[in-house]
Amino acid sequence: MPDVMRIREDFPILQKVREEDNKPLIYFDNTATSLTPVVVTETILEYYHNYGVNIHRGIYNLSKIASEEYENAHDIVAKFIGATDRTELAFTKNTTEAINIVAFGLEWSPGDEIIISAMEHHSNFVPWQIIRDRFHVKLKFIPVKDDYKLDIEYLENNITKNTKLVAITHVSNVLGTINPVKEIGKIAHDNGSMFLVDGAQSTPHMPVNVKDIGCDFFAFSGHKMLGPTGTGGLYISSDVIDKVNPYQYGGGMISSVTFEKSEWGEMPWRFEAGTPNIAGGIGLAAAVKYLEKIGMNWVRSHEKELIKRLVNGVSEIPNVETYGTTDFEHRGGILPFNVKGLDAHEVALYLDQLGNVAVRSGLHCAQPLHNILKVSATVRASLYIYNTKEEVDTFVDLLNEIATSFGQE
Ligand code: ALA
Repeated sequence: MPDVMRIREDFPILQKVREEDNKPLIYFDNTATSLTPVVVTETILEYYHNYGVNIHRGIYNLSKIASEEYENAHDIVAKFIGATDRTELAFTKNTTEAINIVAFGLEWSPGDEIIISAMEHHSNFVPWQIIRDRFHVKLKFIPVKDDYKLDIEYLENNITKNTKLVAITHVSNVLGTINPVKEIGKIAHDNGSMFLVDGAQSTPHMPVNVKDIGCDFFAFSGHKMLGPTGTGGLYISSDVIDKVNPYQYGGGMISSVTFEKSEWGEMPWRFEAGTPNIAGGIGLAAAVKYLEKIGMNWVRSHEKELIKRLVNGVSEIPNVETYGTTDFEHRGGILPFNVKGLDAHEVALYLDQLGNVAVRSGLHCAQPLHNILKVSATVRASLYIYNTKEEVDTFVDLLNEIATSFGQE
């Protein structure tokens, strides 16, 4: 059983205290970006110090080492999400880029339909709006019900023979709702539609298996799962690979170039034009190995325990309104809330100034969902492997102090 205090030792930022008041950092902004363990930064340094050269372009020994490390990194990350190997996983700079590759790589005709949901973050929302407007495609939104879950009946009733793609987030980055992606994928496939899962908020926090989900595309970010910024991935099932054109063109993604025409390389290189983020990709594989050692089942159960404690504690504070399901089997470690009488940014500033607590405030790249919640913004606390029950209790006490001192009934 992993020991949280031992895990914390791997994160230098958690060993420090704020100079002014000696307070340690309570990092509850993990949905935005996770902290980085030493093994990831050391792996990146090792690349730069020992074999930091380009890949797939040199026949000298160092280039061979760099190429192999980068290729193996694909296999390690592919296996982590249940894909076969690198032939099904392209590295991207983040979830947004992965979804854009699908959006602009598929061929669209007027009258095609795409179904997404009203709880998508902008990465899985804005690209589809652009496709709608550019190619005269119809875009439909699965509503969010009062229990903060998706209205699956809407999908069943509104999917048609023209629905080319269903694209849904696995876990909402605001509400924490874990969506029934397997069920949604079955509805999509029974209808002959393709299925994309936005795994930005699931891959870091629970066991993920793309084959078990049965999706055609799966997008995720490395920087939310202990990896470096500027890393992520796109799984493309071999069943649909021929339907996706490359999205960027140039060196590294071709198999041959003549004056007349060019031909594309194999997966995954055809989606990685130009010199890729070699250090980042190798660093992401180090993050994955670290997570595998801890065990994703433990990660999920640790966060489930913490989110229950957090939701129960915060719900008892007068003047605080919380959002999200209390069905913790279907909720990740995310709590959005507001303090009555205070702006979300004011609450976040109080938490920072009084407690060295880092949370995100605002719209969390999910403006349409905030319109549904009928609030102009929320404060969001989000958890990860290194957070503790003591941090949760300190947070609840501090929020209580802020809400009772500055909030309104
Ligand atoms: N989508 C990221 C978040 O939820 C940036 O904060």
